[in-house]
Amino acid sequence: MASSPFIIVAIDGGAASGKSSSSRTLSERFNLLHVDTGSFYRAITAELLRRGVKAADLAGVRAALADLRLGTLVEGRSARMQLGGRIAGDEIRSGEVNDHVSHFAAIPEVRTALLAYQRGQADVARERGFRGLVMEGRDIGSVIFPDATFRFFLHADPGERARRRANEGQQDSIAERDRIDSSRKTAPLACPPGAVSIDSTHLTLAEVVEQMARPIAERLTT
Ligand code: DC
Repeated sequence: MASSPFIIVAIDGGAASGKSSSSRTLSERFNLLHVDTGSFYRAITAELLRRGVKAADLAGVRAALADLRLGTLVEGRSARMQLGGRIAGDEIRSGEVNDHVSHFAAIPEVRTALLAYQRGQADVARERGFRGLVMEGRDIGSVIFPDATFRFFLHADPGERARRRANEGQQDSIAERDRIDSSRKTAPLACPPGAVSIDSTHLTLAEVVEQMARPIAERLTT
């Protein structure tokens, strides 16, 4: 019997659209490495802020990027970014990082610095014996893995998304981040042609996951 193919599942969408919960569930169900690329942008933002580098200071950003040593630690089924051998902690979810991350993520040099690293997560998943990877972000199905086996785009009503973040006890200017992420020149947040668009406003997590899991399960059993 032929072994299952290695699959790549790309999940894009705005802040609090349900990407993380559905990615984590799919990762458990199908033994896929879970890669949250938002956490990578957040880790780099936290590091640059720690070094006192502002997003408006392009020379400072470039110098800091050249000096970053990126690694990956796999914890359970999740890929965690290491910066200079250190794993970023809770500070990546702070209000300060929420306020700055979209500004750093809009800088083409920051995106370029992360491009090969993100694609390299497929090798990490293969080396660790996963059946594939599920990667969430804003440009996974458009830029990072345009040929992914499955590409989903999640969206939800802004009011519902704000409510979800508040339930998580987080203060986050979702609308403002989405505005910056959607209007930037490089790799803006948008549903790429050919991706499956899912409106999660009135769906439970289980219903969202089901829509994604059905074709994945079919693929893995054929
Ligand atoms: O998914 P998140 O809300 O944790 O992402 C934090 C920020 O990182 C988001 O506002 C935009 C940026 N980001 C990005 O530009 N591209 C990605 N692939 C993932 C995140």
